[in-house]
Amino acid sequence: MENFPSVLESISDLTKRQIDGLMELSQQIKLRPWHPISFPNKKPIIATSFLENSTRTKHSFEIAIHKMGCTYIDFIAETSSLKKGESLEQTLLTLFGQGVDLCIIRSAVSHELAQFKENPPLKIINGGDGTHQHPTQALLDLFTLKEMGIKLKGKTFCIAGDNIHSRVGHSLIDLLPMYGAKVLLFGPEEFLPPVTEESNFEITHSRSEALEKADILYLLRVQKERHSHLESIDMDNYHREYGFNLEMIESLQKKLPILHPGPANIGVEISDDLIHSQYYLGHEQVRHSTFLRMAIIQSILQNGDKSIGFKENTFFNN
Ligand code: CP
Repeated sequence: MENFPSVLESISDLTKRQIDGLMELSQQIKLRPWHPISFPNKKPIIATSFLENSTRTKHSFEIAIHKMGCTYIDFIAETSSLKKGESLEQTLLTLFGQGVDLCIIRSAVSHELAQFKENPPLKIINGGDGTHQHPTQALLDLFTLKEMGIKLKGKTFCIAGDNIHSRVGHSLIDLLPMYGAKVLLFGPEEFLPPVTEESNFEITHSRSEALEKADILYLLRVQKERHSHLESIDMDNYHREYGFNLEMIESLQKKLPILHPGPANIGVEISDDLIHSQYYLGHEQVRHSTFLRMAIIQSILQNGDKSIGFKENTFFNN
């Protein structure tokens, strides 16, 4: 794909045309999911490096890599030389020198991957960085909606819950307006960003307003690990005031699709009966994730960027 970035850090690294291309490619891959890719000189070697926990992102990338016939390396930070103080840059250059073409990285630190954009040590996909961005999740959500026949143009996409800490939410806010959706954020005051003149979203603290306006409802987990004042949040109380259950959704005069990036906290942002209902599309999001991630891997590997890694050292050659 033309000019596909070598470091995919955020949604803003992609043009609308590239995103449309990813949607088309994902659709083709869905029809032919064992999709080996040919590479001019060698079979691609792809690593994942998850410096924060993951079930969905890590394993859907791992499965995507296997389905594409590439070699998979599971880089374990805990047993690596990162623990001896080696920098992430030197770690990635080491992997490049050993033949790794691409690394999917999850970091606990927001913006940690921005340092690699100018001189990429190897090709990188952001698997979620701190509270900043999770671009592949937002893209797979878009792909899921397309495949389910759920249109975005002119629709209100309500993102409910811990918006301020959500890297997925931040990526969706960048992505959805490109497809004509209006973004409405719902949650308690401390979970919502301030609205400025530049904001491309609206906010509400009213659950009934969120339910009335929403054409699509996207629920976010309360990120307990990112709240220093967690003791002050009572999860039962949160569910009563800001959570969603099946009765609320069934009482609406519309079929409201419910999405969630996972992992969900049942009994906090979503009730047990809602997550087990037909309104819940979380399993469809997971099902579509591998196709979209295969499309991203193919696009980044085939971008023809020659400026990756380091050049062979000829300093001592006569
Ligand atoms: N949606 C998501 O990023 O889930 P994991 O943390 O399980 O990868």
